[in-house]
Amino acid sequence: MSQSPTTTRIIGIASGKGGVGKTTVAVNLALALSRQNLRVGLLDADLGLANSQILLGVNAPLNVSHVFEGSKSVTDVAVETSHGLLLIPGASGNQSLANITSVQATSLIDQVLQSYPELDVLLIDSAAGLSSANMSFLDTCDLRLLVMQDEPASIADVYGLIKLESRKDRLKNLYLLPNRVTSAANGKALFDKMNLVCMKFLEQPVSYLASILQDELLSKVTRKRETVIEHYPTSPAAKNFLNLAHALLSELGESSATATRQEPQQEQV
Ligand SMILES: Nc1ncnc2c1ncn2[C@@H]1O[C@H](COP(=O)(O)OP(=O)(O)O)[C@@H](O)[C@H]1O
Ligand SMILES: [Mg+2]
Repeated sequence: MSQSPTTTRIIGIASGKGGVGKTTVAVNLALALSRQNLRVGLLDADLGLANSQILLGVNAPLNVSHVFEGSKSVTDVAVETSHGLLLIPGASGNQSLANITSVQATSLIDQVLQSYPELDVLLIDSAAGLSSANMSFLDTCDLRLLVMQDEPASIADVYGLIKLESRKDRLKNLYLLPNRVTSAANGKALFDKMNLVCMKFLEQPVSYLASILQDELLSKVTRKRETVIEHYPTSPAAKNFLNLAHALLSELGESSATATRQEPQQEQV
């Protein structure tokens, strides 16, 4: 139970269903945040289908599977990317790792925080679904972004995740992030619809920062080993992620102030 005295803010990127854009969001948000002169780490915690390194065009010989096996430390497997990010690569196609315990998940985060105390932000690109390891990664986060799309399976699966978090009374730092939307207004409307359902059935609201537009450039750049933030900074996708980074940072500043302000009140209950 080591609690490191760290100032690193941990942001989790999660979803109920796979393929909705978690890795796309995690990688581009990491790049957008590092543009704000922040020291950013990206932990690829998708232990079955890791692909942050592919989006970043990074060759990663080692990954977290070697840390879990005990043969390597976090510093052995971490890679400094040419974009200025610290990437802790995930493992692909390793079925046993997809089922690591909550203790292993929490201990990995501890190791990252202790090895890199200078990190301002640690982004966690998590796997889809509700496994206990996944939920443990999310429990360590100061703020969680739930990526979703406007389609029935994604809506149903994200609601499942919200419901699980609501039982832990953790909806306060849970933000829905509609992805691949056709307009900002449609993204906000999707959030409003979800929020109404949460208010009605869970009696708690979820939060909103921004939406990400559908932009074909996002898959095109990966094939060319480029990123929208670096190579197409004025594209709709790049602007979306830069705005999201701004919104997130002001929210983090705000939420730490709120947490400090609320402390005495909570003790009276
Ligand atoms: N906003 C977007 N616009 C266009 N394509 C997107 C967008 N977000 C994600 N994609 C595409 O969707 C696919 C799945 O995205 P990915 O980030 O790998 O999802 P996940 O990590 O949730 O499995 C990828 O081909 C990616 O390029
Ligand atoms: Mg992914």
